[in-house]
Parts: sequence; C-alpha cells; structure tokens
Amino acid sequence: MDLYEHQARELFEEHGIAVPRAEVTDSSKEAREIARRLGGRALVKAQVKTGGRGKAGGVKLAADPASAELTARHILGMDIKGHTVATVMLAQPVDIESEFYVSYVLDRAAGRFLAIASAEGGMEIEEVAARRPDAVARVHIDPARGVTSAKAGEIVAAAGLPAQAVDVLVRLWQVLVREDALLVEVNPLVRTRQGRLVALDGKVTLDDNASFRQSRRGGAAAEYGDPLEEEAAAKGLNYVKLDGEVGIIGNGAGLVMATLDVVAGCGARPANFLDIGGGASAGVMADGLAVILSDPAVKSVFVNVFGGITACDAVAEGIVRGLDTVRLTKPLVVRLDGNNAARGRAILDEHRHPLVEQATTMDGAARRAARLATAA
Ligand SMILES: Nc1ncnc2c1ncn2[C@@H]1O[C@H](COP(=O)(O)OP(=O)(O)O)[C@@H](O)[C@H]1O
Ligand SMILES: [Mg+2]
Repeated sequence: MDLYEHQARELFEEHGIAVPRAEVTDSSKEAREIARRLGGRALVKAQVKTGGRGKAGGVKLAADPASAELTARHILGMDIKGHTVATVMLAQPVDIESEFYVSYVLDRAAGRFLAIASAEGGMEIEEVAARRPDAVARVHIDPARGVTSAKAGEIVAAAGLPAQAVDVLVRLWQVLVREDALLVEVNPLVRTRQGRLVALDGKVTLDDNASFRQSRRGGAAAEYGDPLEEEAAAKGLNYVKLDGEVGIIGNGAGLVMATLDVVAGCGARPANFLDIGGGASAGVMADGLAVILSDPAVKSVFVNVFGGITACDAVAEGIVRGLDTVRLTKPLVVRLDGNNAARGRAILDEHRHPLVEQATTMDGAARRAARLATAA
C-alpha cells in the first residue's frame, strides 16, 4: 500500500528524520489558519499518490495566509495524472541550498534491498538516471545486516552526499524495517542554507503482507487504507478498490481477474476487484453490492458468475434477495453460465428489476456494462 506524503512525513518524523512543520486539510478556509500557524508563508501541496506533483501545478508557495487559502482552493479538486486532490498539506518553506535523492527499494531479483542515491535530487530519479547515469549510485544491502553507519558511509561516498546524510540513511533504514516497507524514498532530501538536512518529500510503500504484525495498521487496511476497502474488509469481502467506473462482482479470483481484463478490453475501466468466492448468499451479494454502489465513480455493475458447486440458481436467488436489502442505483449486467444457468436466468427474468439486465456471454456482458458506464 502506498502512503500519502503526509503519512510518510509522519513516519520519518517518528524515526527522527528532520521534516518541515506541516498540517493537512481538505478545506481552503482551514488552509489559511494553518498558514498563519506556520508563520504566514507556506507551501501548499496536493496529497495524491503520484509523483511529479510540482510539475503538474500541485505544489505552490503561498506568500501569506490569504494566498494560502486561494492556492488551496485552486489545488483542491485538481486532477493530477488521474488522481483527484481531496486534501492538501501545508508545509513550512525551507531555504534550500541543494537537493539530493535517497531511497531503499526491495530488489526481488537480487534477493536484497537496493539503496539508490544521488546528489542531483528534486526531479524524478528516472530522469536523472536517463540523462546522467553516473550521477545515480546503487548499493545493495544485505537484509540481514541492514544499514549500519559504515554501510551508510559507503552510500554517501558513492553518491557524493554530505557527511550528515549518514545519520539520515541509518534512520531511513529503520523506517523501512520497523514499518515493514518495500520502498522508502526521500526526494528531495535538502541541505538548508543553515546547513541542516531536511526531508521535503517522501514516498513509502508498505508491505501489505506484513500488516498483521503492524498494530497501527490494525491487521487490515485500518489506518492507511481506502475507506471502501476498510468497509469491505469489515464485511469479510475480498475487495480491492481500482480507479475505473465498472463495478465488478465475480466468483473465483481467476474469473474476476479475467473479468477485469475483458472490461478493460472493451474500453472501460474496472472500479474494483471483488471475489465473492464459492458461496453466493444473499448476504454476501448484498454486502458486495452495497460497497460497490457506495463508490461514486461506479457507473454500472457487472456480475460475472460461473456456476460450479454453487449453482447459478443459488446465485440468482442471492442476487434477488440481495436486491431486497440494497437499493440498486446503477444498471446491473448479469452473466450466469455453468451449473444450472438456465434456471438462474429464469429466476432473474421473473424478478424483472428495471435496472437489471442479462447477457449470455462474458464478452457480451462486458461490452454492455462498459457501454452503460461510458454513456452515463
Ligand atoms: N517545505 C518546502 N520548502 C521549500 N521547498 C519545497 C518544500 N517542499 C517542496 N519544495 C520544493 O518543491 C519541489 C517539488 O515538491 P515535492 O514535494 O518534491 O513534490 P513532487 O516530487 O511530487 O513534485 C521540491 O523539489 C522542492 O524544491
Ligand atoms: Mg518530490
């Protein structure tokens, strides 16, 4: 799971890495108050899980609280690479003398972690690597030994970073290990005119497989997760939020994955992954529909079921009874095939819900759901 910049900033702070004072808000009025608390001038920074916000106009310096409010109003709601800005962070401006890049990332092929560091920070590291490969140092880290001061010294020397970066690199390794992260990146890490090293922007990807042992993550999506994923997890559903507009329900992970592909092949984007598994009780169907319909991005829903041990008539009953408890607000396209498909289809036909339609093939259903979503 990727964290927002402000969440990464908090983890850095907890592990003793210097960060600018900052606060988060979703209101431009409050942005003015925060700027005042920060001393007047503030950087207004879009909180979206993508890089290159600066270039996209999502990072702006406001000279006083009034312009912080205007700037926040402008940035909130902005679209950055397909991500809508729902919150901004206001951060105290730092006097930058130079910008560096440091990160640790899991290198699966090598079975090690890789430290990537450069004295040319600020811009995206891929750009630096393409333009000046010599300016990017790569040092492998044995996960059992970790980053000691000696190892950090090696990274600092390889990248040409200031000596103080040793301490930051050791602490950043602690963030990775203690928080069970797969990636920690600081870009830029800056030296201020006063000679301090400060982390101005951070990216952290947590290892979801380790969340059970991270109490702050509550064993599931708890603190950092998407609210819909949290709701789904609380209902025991196998749900992953995606960025599209066609809600998906299917039985069996393989079939659901194939359904996502087919919908994408029809020119629409799936809004989620949801595998209702072997059983298809009315309760599970109702819970699944409730979560999907509460996603405002969803324009149509595609239920794709291949009846096996749980036959299609049982699934159809589940849909019909699920629809008794959930108010259907978007068109629902159902494809039932496999065990007892004819009986299942007949049950849905009899029910005659004005927003429910059936298709006999997976491709046909995907095309229909995609058309309904893109026309809406
Ligand atoms: N608190 C700050 N004080 C001064 N400059 C900042 C601050 N935060 C960001 N910047 C400047 O803005 C640039 C872009 O911001 P950053 O947070 O790295 O966003 P992104 O990488 O998404 O473009 C940084 O490279 C830095 O030069
Ligand atoms: Mg950055």
